[in-house]
Amino acid sequence: MRKMFFQRGITVCLAFLFACSFCNANISGKWIGFDSVSRELKVDAAKKMEQNVDDQNSRPLVLPPPRYLRKDFALKGEIRKATLRASALGWYNVHLNGERVGDDYFTPGWTDYNKRIYFNTYDVTDMVNKGDNAIGAILADGWYSGYIGWGRIRDHYGKNTRMMAQLDVEYIDGSTETIITDGSWKASTGPLLEADILMGEVYDATHEIPGWDKAGYDDKRWNAVDVTDEIKAIIEPYPTVTVQVFQEIKPLSVMEPKKGTFVFDLGSNFAGFARLKVKGKKGARITLAYGERLLKDGTILKANLRGARAEDTYICKGDGIEIWKPRFTFHGFQYVSVTGYPGTPKKDAITGIELTSATRVVGSFECSDERLNKLYQNIIQTQRANFIDIPTDCPQRDERLGWTGDAQAYVRTACLNMDVQTFFHKWLVDLMDAQLANGDLTKVAPMKTAGGSGGPAWADAGIICPWAIYEVYGDKSVLEKHYESMTRFVEFREKSMNDFLPPEEFHCFGDWLHVGPSTPKEVIFSAYTAGDAQIMAKAAAVLGKKDDVKKYNELYENLKSAFNKAYVDKDGKIQGHSQTVYVMAIWFDLVDGEMREKAEEHLIERIKNRHWHLGPGFVGTRDLMHVLTKIGRTDVAYRLLFTDTYPSWLFPVKNGATSIWERWDSWTPEKGYQDAGMNSFSHYAYGSVGQWIFENIGGIKSVEPGYKKIVIKPYMTDQLEWANVSYDSVRGKVSVKWTREGEKVKLDVEIPPDTMAQVYVPGKENAVTVGSGKHAFIGEFKQ
Ligand code: BGC
Repeated sequence: MRKMFFQRGITVCLAFLFACSFCNANISGKWIGFDSVSRELKVDAAKKMEQNVDDQNSRPLVLPPPRYLRKDFALKGEIRKATLRASALGWYNVHLNGERVGDDYFTPGWTDYNKRIYFNTYDVTDMVNKGDNAIGAILADGWYSGYIGWGRIRDHYGKNTRMMAQLDVEYIDGSTETIITDGSWKASTGPLLEADILMGEVYDATHEIPGWDKAGYDDKRWNAVDVTDEIKAIIEPYPTVTVQVFQEIKPLSVMEPKKGTFVFDLGSNFAGFARLKVKGKKGARITLAYGERLLKDGTILKANLRGARAEDTYICKGDGIEIWKPRFTFHGFQYVSVTGYPGTPKKDAITGIELTSATRVVGSFECSDERLNKLYQNIIQTQRANFIDIPTDCPQRDERLGWTGDAQAYVRTACLNMDVQTFFHKWLVDLMDAQLANGDLTKVAPMKTAGGSGGPAWADAGIICPWAIYEVYGDKSVLEKHYESMTRFVEFREKSMNDFLPPEEFHCFGDWLHVGPSTPKEVIFSAYTAGDAQIMAKAAAVLGKKDDVKKYNELYENLKSAFNKAYVDKDGKIQGHSQTVYVMAIWFDLVDGEMREKAEEHLIERIKNRHWHLGPGFVGTRDLMHVLTKIGRTDVAYRLLFTDTYPSWLFPVKNGATSIWERWDSWTPEKGYQDAGMNSFSHYAYGSVGQWIFENIGGIKSVEPGYKKIVIKPYMTDQLEWANVSYDSVRGKVSVKWTREGEKVKLDVEIPPDTMAQVYVPGKENAVTVGSGKHAFIGEFKQ
């Protein structure tokens, strides 16, 4: 059914890092483009006004055609090696002698292009030959100048797309030659009429230019390129894995809810696009509209895409069977609605192409409860859909931004599913580049579309994420690289406070999308800042900065005492009295002794009061389950986990979810869909429960950075008969398999080389210490 493209073992990030140290050579072409197309477009946009303006989006669409660039060149001898380096302000595809180079999407990745631009390196030895050759490129708007974020705003980083390439050829005789982008290239437009992230593509096959990327093509009528040397950003090698095809997906069914509208169900909600197969007359126009869910009448839900048109259009050349797929857009969808198809399409008219950053799959989880298995699948599915060069909030509507709050809430779970070490290395540079002059950190990174302070639990991603990467991968370099920026951020927070309490005014999203009582923003501010101080003290210790350890420990103590004075009353009630306030107080160790006991009681009471249902939003959900385990109430954690009535994790699963929803009530049987203004069906934030599931049902926890020391401690419940979990850590594979057989529990563990583990055999008080290898135990079932 599904053809998998990359899986466990194929992409090794560390190997990649290593490889990158070899491709560190720089790129030295000129930045070329075809600016006059943009100028013409401004006029065209006004004309298009009528056809493209709808109620919620009052600006006309400006969709420039991608530029086609080319150059012929001759190579004088036999070739030993050829290496291509390419970059763009926009998205590029390079073609050599009629073939596309590489299978990456959305290169060279998203950065603040005014500060930093990446280039990609390809071995193209097999693609060039002695004699005549041609190099071509297609250049689309991408994140540089296309639509991204809300409000129909484009040109975030600049108006004119550019590309740069350098082809280094080494001949057998040792001599070398270099072909670069410069004023000798030619420019035109071609069959791709529109290509935009949010809006989709329009491809007119009747405009194809046969041979444009091959030697000898007559480009006399093409235009001169524009060359500029005004780009001053740093240019560096791309530092992580690129976006690639993850799998191809065949539709489960095709329905025709309206005459001539065919809706294909791909079975699960993912990011990518569809490949179309069609036989039509010249000029036949087929439109593919993408949606995550269906309306009652069987047509696709479009309202929650807000300003994203999310449609691809193909115009047939009328030449037998035509197969086409977009290359410069992606959509978040489960359904494709096809109109204009000649006749009735068969199921194979559409194939889903799932894209994601090629992070290696490292985790697996399975247990005896199918609903939990589905929840786990939905979590990884949603991770793939949102790890597209950067960690985004959602892949479907007019947003798709690197929201900091979402990333910090999810980072730990992300690490257990895929190897995201270099992926986060890249994004943390984006975050550092976005840091404001006063030291504050932003709502999103790369910053442009939604600027300004992220506020508590969002901006703190700059502290939380580097620490998570250090702990999971034992990677000190991430702390070394970001320590200065982390310090500046915490100094900014500290300076803004009065007597260790929040300032009068500050930005905060609160406990975003909570459904229980709301959590005061001040309490989130104080708790998260205390959490930052804790991390800073630990990070300083790792880096051997003794004075800083002292400084941050003191800051933490001051914040803690201010927290108690300002928010905790004599009955241990914390302001807001929500589940989230107790979760934060206990998680960040902000209450001690009697007050801690009371906080624990209040937390349980707040859960019971909601008939054992969830109340928190993004902030409280992150740590709720961990806190329950920390206070010895894993029984309550399990009770929450197995609840399938609203609001709970299994409620969407019970209602057919194939991904993690943005809201606890994105859809309910009583009310239908939530407000379309904020209702994504692919938002990983609530998937942060994945870490708890993995570490407590599976029972695998790292207790020394980089899984140097591991604790194996699965928690038993009578609701589960078995669990089978594995994780490819930086030290090698850790796995746990447990099965209940009556009163007995069989436990099999595997520990990686040179690693110590403490194994808590179910039913036994004390841990057994073991070394690497496979170990089998028999324990007793005890809840
Ligand atoms: C995003 C969120 C984000 C939030 C900030 C939304 O529009 O989709 O996931 O964290 O804004 O509150």
